[in-house]
Amino acid sequence: MRRLAQAFGAAMTVTEMLDAEYYAGGNPEAALRSQGSGIDPHVVQIAGCRPDRMGEAAKLAEAAGAAMIDINMGCPAKRVTGGAAGSALMRDLDLAVSLIRAVIAAVKIPVSLKMRLGWDAATINAPELARRAEGEGIAMLTVHGRTRCQFYDGKADWAAIREVRRASSLPLVANGDCASLADARTMLAASGADAVMVGRAAVGRPWFVGEVARDLAGRPKASPSAAERGSAALEHYRTLLSLFGMEQGLRHARKHLSAYALKSESPDAAALRDKLVRSENPREVESLLLHLFEIERPAEAA
Ligand SMILES: Cc1cc2nc3c(=O)[nH]c(=O)nc-3n(C[C@H](O)[C@H](O)[C@H](O)COP(=O)(O)O)c2cc1C
Repeated sequence: MRRLAQAFGAAMTVTEMLDAEYYAGGNPEAALRSQGSGIDPHVVQIAGCRPDRMGEAAKLAEAAGAAMIDINMGCPAKRVTGGAAGSALMRDLDLAVSLIRAVIAAVKIPVSLKMRLGWDAATINAPELARRAEGEGIAMLTVHGRTRCQFYDGKADWAAIREVRRASSLPLVANGDCASLADARTMLAASGADAVMVGRAAVGRPWFVGEVARDLAGRPKASPSAAERGSAALEHYRTLLSLFGMEQGLRHARKHLSAYALKSESPDAAALRDKLVRSENPREVESLLLHLFEIERPAEAA
């Protein structure tokens, strides 16, 4: 996903969050997520609540070729906040700062921070965390314009991100609900941020971020052809199977296959989606993807 998004023009991609405990403890899936071959810049995101483990995880990511470490203080999942990591850190800024300090001290590369607006509507403290993070030497901030208690409900508040802009002069990335070129422009204007980050709207559409980048740079719209989109989806599917193996790879692939189908322009999208997420036969999935993007299967070598 990261390689595809960058190939289509995303300026930067970030790994899924790596649990510092697992990663520093040698967990193979965390190590796989930290890889960045063919990705430049390679940014590894870590999450945790123990400064020593966060420092170790950051060192490992740096050794794995990361150009920047991103600290997650935005994840709302109970599994993560229950362990006082992710957005739970916005309830304990002293602990948040000690994690930031440990990570910055552990590595030579820049360290960025992702956060939400606060824990809940009564405790909007992103500006305060931003100020303190800047004082510690954080290099870039990303703010998802929701509180933790909102999870993914309602609409991201892009104007509220402007308070972080006022509190800090760091490069600022606005995030939450960017689903169109117009959204990206409105987000920048409302928040005063320097960049936008796209999450869900890029699933099943890894070329979307490049389209946003081109539009914001004032370059002409240039969407990939159906053949380019189809071969990206095929490459994505094949890579997931080869990285994770058949069983786990299929599980990972399903959500992407579903999104490729639902976001396609195919009149058969719904029926193809059902077949794509049910099939355990890679040849069948590949044929369905070719059908979805209406491209001819290349002639087999004799
Ligand atoms: C299934 C799922 C997994 C996510 N995993 C991460 C993650 O590992 N690290 C992170 O910083 N944000 C994660 N996010 C949050 C997104 O990066 C983003 O902040 C949020 O979805 C809002 O942006 P969007 O509306 O563009 O998706 C995740 C979101 C979803 C829905």
